[in-house]
Amino acid sequence: MTADLSVNFTGLKFENPFLLSSAPPTESESNILRAFDAGWGGVVVKTIGMHPVVNVAGPKTKFLRSNPETGTLSMNKGRAGALHSSWNWELISDKPLDWWIPRLERIKKAHPTKILIASIMAGSGNDKELDHWRDLTKACQDAGADGIEMNLSCPHMDRADMGSNIGKDQALCSFVTQVVKEVARVPVWAKLTPASADMTVEAGAVFRGGADAVVSSNTFPSLPIIDSETLEFEMNVDGLVSSGGMGGPAILPMSLANMAKMTRAFPDREFSGIGGVSDLRQAASYFLLGCGTVQVCTAAMLDKAVGPTVIKDLKEGLSAFIERNADKGWKRVEDFRGIRRDRVVSHSKIRRPDDAEYAGGYDAEGYSSSEMEPS
Ligand SMILES: Cc1cc2nc3c(=O)[nH]c(=O)nc-3n(C[C@H](O)[C@H](O)[C@H](O)COP(=O)(O)O)c2cc1C
Repeated sequence: MTADLSVNFTGLKFENPFLLSSAPPTESESNILRAFDAGWGGVVVKTIGMHPVVNVAGPKTKFLRSNPETGTLSMNKGRAGALHSSWNWELISDKPLDWWIPRLERIKKAHPTKILIASIMAGSGNDKELDHWRDLTKACQDAGADGIEMNLSCPHMDRADMGSNIGKDQALCSFVTQVVKEVARVPVWAKLTPASADMTVEAGAVFRGGADAVVSSNTFPSLPIIDSETLEFEMNVDGLVSSGGMGGPAILPMSLANMAKMTRAFPDREFSGIGGVSDLRQAASYFLLGCGTVQVCTAAMLDKAVGPTVIKDLKEGLSAFIERNADKGWKRVEDFRGIRRDRVVSHSKIRRPDDAEYAGGYDAEGYSSSEMEPS
């Protein structure tokens, strides 16, 4: 590999632009150390909060596979077929701040050149909760975290003042960001929820509050499928289910749509892309739309828990991509970051056929199969 994979993102120097996102791959010291040894440029630690959490009984995550042989899309009907998505209802870290602090210190000492981002979450409904944001920020940065990622996006929250309920409210987004920025000495990233009508609204709000980057995004709110034979949700506890989050390949096009809207609305700002990345073929779309870094969860979970093969492929893929386009003068990510952002336009700007060619859509009744299926 000869290409320069390093990036500067929110003032932090990454040896490569790939991070493990805040999730099970980063839930422990040993995982994070293994991830750095495997070559990830950075990690975002599993979200740390002040409230003790207890997860649901039984599995917290499952993976949906689509089997072309049987036509099934299922979490439970075998491992054959292509990965469609992950579905989870896992809460934030069940380890308290006191558990994390010495570990963050040790991790940073062991890997001073890797980027360690602490994901934090608290409520917003009263002064005590706002103090939690301040305390978490101060404790993590004092322990050596290079940056803070505010989790404004956890999709499974009953509390109205927390997680994606903050991320759906532009006033709270802005306010919580200001609170964290008051005490932060390190860059502050805001991880937003796709459960929003227009993420540019919340992105604008966190930027107004002082955020250094928007991270997009957390998982998409979703339910497991009901098995038509058993009439039970494919994932349930005592027959009951609650909204959880979808990640993995299925969310890539939707995540890109949100990202394109935001990078077009704020072309001078920093964005970290998440959603459905397992190799450079997906990561490239995020860079070309304007992202400076890319984060990965589902693909890493399925690759020895921290994604050693995923990061190897990402680095080799990026290097080859840069070398393949050397004739365009590309030497590093910065040379092609955002160059396809302007190709996303309003619908009316898409070329129509000439009048002579156009039969008003009435030349065939409905869609003929030749229009629907590739020949
Ligand atoms: C089991 C599981 C737990 C997660 N926990 C967190 C979390 O604690 N904090 C957070 O910000 N995102 C969390 N996420 C979301 C991921 O970081 C990521 O945003 C999402 O899975 C989309 O990326 P992907 O398509 O690569 O999976 C979690 C995802 C999964 C699957």
